[in-house]
Amino acid sequence: MSASVVEEASRRRTFAIISHPDAGKTTLTEKFLLYAGALGEAGAVKARSGRRSATSDWMELEQKRGISISSTALSFDYRGHQLNLLDTPGHRDFSEDTYRVLSAVDAVVMVLDSAKGIEPQTLKLFEVCRSRNLPVITFLNKYDRPGREPLELLDEIEEQIGLRPTPATWPVGISGDFRGVLDRRTGQFTRFTRTTRGSSIAPEEIVDAERASVEEGKAWTHAQEEAGLLDAIGADVDLESFLAGESTPVFVGSALTNFGVRSVLDAIVDLAPAPEQRETIDGGRRPLEGECSAFVFKVQANMDRSHRDRIAFVRICSGRFERGMVLTCDRTGKPFATKYASTVFGAERTTVEEAYPGDVVGLVNATGLNIGDSLYETEPVTFPPIPRFSPEVFASARPLDTGKSKQFRKGLAQLDEEGVVQVLRDPDMGDSAPVLAAVGQLQFDVFANRLDVEFNAPIEVLSAPYDSIRLTDDRSAKRLREIGGIRIMQRGDGRLVALFESRYRLQRIENDEPDLVLDHIIAG
Ligand code: G4P
Repeated sequence: MSASVVEEASRRRTFAIISHPDAGKTTLTEKFLLYAGALGEAGAVKARSGRRSATSDWMELEQKRGISISSTALSFDYRGHQLNLLDTPGHRDFSEDTYRVLSAVDAVVMVLDSAKGIEPQTLKLFEVCRSRNLPVITFLNKYDRPGREPLELLDEIEEQIGLRPTPATWPVGISGDFRGVLDRRTGQFTRFTRTTRGSSIAPEEIVDAERASVEEGKAWTHAQEEAGLLDAIGADVDLESFLAGESTPVFVGSALTNFGVRSVLDAIVDLAPAPEQRETIDGGRRPLEGECSAFVFKVQANMDRSHRDRIAFVRICSGRFERGMVLTCDRTGKPFATKYASTVFGAERTTVEEAYPGDVVGLVNATGLNIGDSLYETEPVTFPPIPRFSPEVFASARPLDTGKSKQFRKGLAQLDEEGVVQVLRDPDMGDSAPVLAAVGQLQFDVFANRLDVEFNAPIEVLSAPYDSIRLTDDRSAKRLREIGGIRIMQRGDGRLVALFESRYRLQRIENDEPDLVLDHIIAG
């Protein structure tokens, strides 16, 4: 049996697509399904106005904003491999959710709009991939439209993210008159033919260099010249530095017309890593073929309003998962029966009977499981915690209906546990005047909406005057309280934090009283 776990793991590629909203993530996802022959599900990908599908309408805010807040996992077969695509919430704001999803993938596909390049709001997301050394495959999308010079885009990737771009393909024809790509490995031309809005696979013709030169003339010569330039600077796809998260293979294409989509899928299979032994907290590694183990990277409550349930999404790290097996949570030591294991796609669920390393399973009725928890069969394991991001924005929450304080408290606890926002409580006042802390403003909107819709406890979110947060301890907190103008609060995990209204004031205190504990919350 152990050999088959390793075999199954080696067939898997677990990845996410990250992009700025509108760069084409959803379109590319649909096209991946088209090329994998699994388009039956593609209609469910979109959660946008106009193309909304009934399967993902479980969240009102999601509808109102036209954004996909939920993370789901999508699996499909391609060339004998199982590709697990984890959705990252796509919106203009940072959210911790996205970062958590990145802890559960082995590689990412970064989609850039070739007319826009790297957009400031998403830079942070790319930087996180870089800092975690996640292998990144880059897709320069929308090349069917007039856009920027691809060489310029390569410079931008290198300068802004510090990833060395290594183009695998190079466009033939300028953006807006995109004819196909030069494959830098073979020197051949892949000619694409448009189909109506890319509703079916784009016919591809492989043409040798000589014929390409005759048939494409200047466009081919130009592509060859630029490819020559790339050769000269040694910008060739390099597996080792790609896997180390230092270089990124670049593909040029158009998700809309399907140009270049196949190459990206092939790269996921051929270049992206299969699940490997996962590092444990003590610095060891959990062998793939051992007993089943997993970790929770996302918790979502009330996905199905009629059931009011709680689903923990786990990534299998080792062994074979079998529905019905009992797993133990390392944090609580409590057993968890996995009778209801499913894949969740929008509001639709399919029962999962078995899963292997790299797969994502949604555990239904997961009361008691929190983000970051490790699960194991009998041989204990603790995987390193998922890094939390240092909050950057703060707000206070005021219940609008004082008669709903029980619901309010319940919602606070639940949404804090889910990591929707961090709830900070005044140690003397408990739940009555919490401060909410988040990475991005949108988290507050989601929080308020869910408190209202799911817990029937409407609140008003007011901005709070803090701009910095530090971890502290009892002794330092006592002193900080004396100084005044500093708020000491407690996180859900019991740790004390100090909130400062001005970072200059914080700096002064750090300088004047260096023995106070004022630790940064580690990010990334
Ligand atoms: P996102 O998930 O990253 O937010 O982007 P999405 O795929 O929804 O694409 C955003 C818009 O860009 C869509 O147009 C989509 O059709 C278009 N698009 C995606 N890929 C390409 C491409 O390769 N070339 C061109 N020209 N356009 C592309 P929309 O008008 O917002 O929606 P729709 O009316 O097409 O549905």
